[in-house]
Amino acid sequence: MKCELAPSILSFDLTDLRESVTTMIASGATIVHLDVMDGQFVPPITFGDAYARALRPTVDALFEAHLMVETPEKQFEAFAKAGCGRIIFHAEATHHSHRLIQSLKAMGVEAGIAINPGTPVEVIEPVLDIIDIALVMTVNPGWGGQSFIESTLAKVARLRHLRPDLLIEVDGGIDPRTLPVAKAAGANVFVVGSHFARASCLADSVKEMVSQCG
Ligand code: DX5
Ligand code: ZN
Repeated sequence: MKCELAPSILSFDLTDLRESVTTMIASGATIVHLDVMDGQFVPPITFGDAYARALRPTVDALFEAHLMVETPEKQFEAFAKAGCGRIIFHAEATHHSHRLIQSLKAMGVEAGIAINPGTPVEVIEPVLDIIDIALVMTVNPGWGGQSFIESTLAKVARLRHLRPDLLIEVDGGIDPRTLPVAKAAGANVFVVGSHFARASCLADSVKEMVSQCG
């Protein structure tokens, strides 16, 4: 199954991002991962759809909005109109994950659902047949630069067992050490933030992990 890199912009200088995003996509990453936080679902606040819209013309790549927000459905239309071809909401942020996935797909947007480290895979089993991607948080959401939580690998493996063809994304603490481990467990989309943000040569760092993707 094809593996993809999804750089997260959270740890970069958000006031001067275009060159970095262009470099990462030119180096082989295929997705721009936008970490949207509302200060309620997680303590920090990051940015809204206006930021996604401003960044959209920078590169011709899939924008995925990772909505770490309460009542995520209130953001669907705005981020879709801003140019996000994939929207991922948290299972913990709604009582109606099935209906929210249906509404995203009705908008023509890829639908993803995310689970926190403390949330079992069983919570999303009923919607595995209708989602486009499952995002397994490998850190607790809210911040970049955290350490990879090894216990989440069992959830990745369980998801891969349940759905051999599903896109399974891991998000948090992914670097050249943890990518191979997560890939072996069954992940095939990798969010990488601070490892790239602190790279001395961004292009080389991305190319290294693209080659790990295989
Ligand atoms: C955390 C975000 C992640 C984070 C990844 O809440 O969802 O996307 O930015 O950053 P690193 O790679 O630094 O863990
Ligand atoms: Zn994220």
